[in-house]
Amino acid sequence: MEFLKTLGQVQLVGIALLVGVVGYVYNVLRSPLNKVPGPWYASWTNIVTKYHFLTGCNPTYIHSLHSKYGPVVRIGPNDVDVADPVAAQTIHRIKDEFLKSEFYTQFLPGVTNIFNCVNRDHHRRYRRLLSSPLSETGLKPMLPQIDSRVRFGIQRMGEEMKSRGAVDICKWWMFMTTDIIGELTFGESFKMLELGRKNQYIKDLEGSAFIGGLRATFPLLSKLSFYVPIPFFWKAGPITGRLAMYSRDSIQRQRTLLEENPDMAPTLFSKMFKAKSEDSLSGVELEDNAQAYIVGGSDTTAMSLTYLVWAVCRDPQIKEKLVNELQTRLSDDFSYDDVKELPYLNQVIEETTRIYAAAPSGLPRTVPSGGASLAGYWIPGGATVLTQAYSLHRSEAFPDPERFDPSRWENPTKAMKDSMMPFGGGSRICLGVHLARIELRLATARFFRAFPNAIVSELEGMSDRDMDQDLFFLITPRGHRCLIQAN
Ligand code: HEM
Repeated sequence: MEFLKTLGQVQLVGIALLVGVVGYVYNVLRSPLNKVPGPWYASWTNIVTKYHFLTGCNPTYIHSLHSKYGPVVRIGPNDVDVADPVAAQTIHRIKDEFLKSEFYTQFLPGVTNIFNCVNRDHHRRYRRLLSSPLSETGLKPMLPQIDSRVRFGIQRMGEEMKSRGAVDICKWWMFMTTDIIGELTFGESFKMLELGRKNQYIKDLEGSAFIGGLRATFPLLSKLSFYVPIPFFWKAGPITGRLAMYSRDSIQRQRTLLEENPDMAPTLFSKMFKAKSEDSLSGVELEDNAQAYIVGGSDTTAMSLTYLVWAVCRDPQIKEKLVNELQTRLSDDFSYDDVKELPYLNQVIEETTRIYAAAPSGLPRTVPSGGASLAGYWIPGGATVLTQAYSLHRSEAFPDPERFDPSRWENPTKAMKDSMMPFGGGSRICLGVHLARIELRLATARFFRAFPNAIVSELEGMSDRDMDQDLFFLITPRGHRCLIQAN
């Protein structure tokens, strides 16, 4: 009797499994996304993209799919990558119809800020309250602070060049950008340039983009990791906890500083401390958004500067042209206004953000419920569409796309401009774009004015292999260093 009962239960489980499998297969075979080209396995699983994420090669893998299948390619059962500039603009429209996908919630669990919030109204409120101090006009009063940190960074690089024979620009740009965003956000820098060596804070910042991408790519494992230790994930909790703590402590310190000295130099958050509650963010919101600033505002700019200097130093003609412009067009006491419009400097920066986009990976968005036609393909509502700068920046608009060639920006075509998305687009375009451009211009100008003969060093075994790119959510040189020397 007991045996028959068990047999019945096994049969029931077997039937349920069979129904599940048949249902799954039926859904896969009938999916409207089947018309989108892509490898056969993409209809069944996105495990291959997940694997490539882990190896730091996902953007190059997806780019190889575009080379084979065209500008719209299916990369998972519900995921489509789009490398068509017009379709990318539709996805990233200011009207905000394609909302950020759940990827972003997983990126930073337990925190809601301007970067990861999905809700349209919440985002609009953040944007309304936070945009003005980071606009070009809003940043003007902060130019002296930014420039002073840039000068100090260059001075510290010079010191290392003397003592070591070469300078690790990757490290110093990271210290500089961290100090700048710290000072502008909290009123006090993290004093990394003074310290001159990586501490826990820098290690946490460096790890945060990888951890965020890891969590968002493996949401189930991420949840499980709260209960059982899982390789790779075990660092995530402590890093997130410490980043939250840095923000909390720094916001509290700013509050105290402001009480002690109401006339202290303005910060990106000053107005929030003084405003009425409806025009302000709560304490927790300030802390959460501070995290978006310190994480989003350090690595990105630092890695852009690192690849810029490396690429320029490798090509004597490009370096000569840039140095010549900086030496002939600038006086010794130049300021930001003098560098802002320098044509070749801006071309070098544009080309760096193209080929070494600091955020090269797909930016996932959910297709609105009515579905959308993108580059000739019908994509149903609820599907996830991704656009990756890595592919857009290598579109047909750029002949010989792997060549670092700033002069291609002398007279850019419309197609070139339309293909560029280094700072994202539409309503979710990078909030720090103006700050990033100020830092890139000032730091590049001051670096090549100070070290016009800079070359890539071969000291300590430094080679081009160190600069191979790890592409997780952000770009990182695989060797985690870039040694430059000058005489
Ligand atoms: C070269 C430097 C930088 C690059 C390449 C860059 C790139 C990007 C990209 C691609 C996005 C869009 C992400 C998405 O749609 O998922 C973004 C968003 C954002 N970035 Fe940057 N970023 C840079 C510097 C900065 C700086 C200096 C800050 C400092 C405040 C910053 C703060 C933010 C914030 C808060 C967002 C979210 C904006 C929103 O969703 O409304 N970024 N950035």
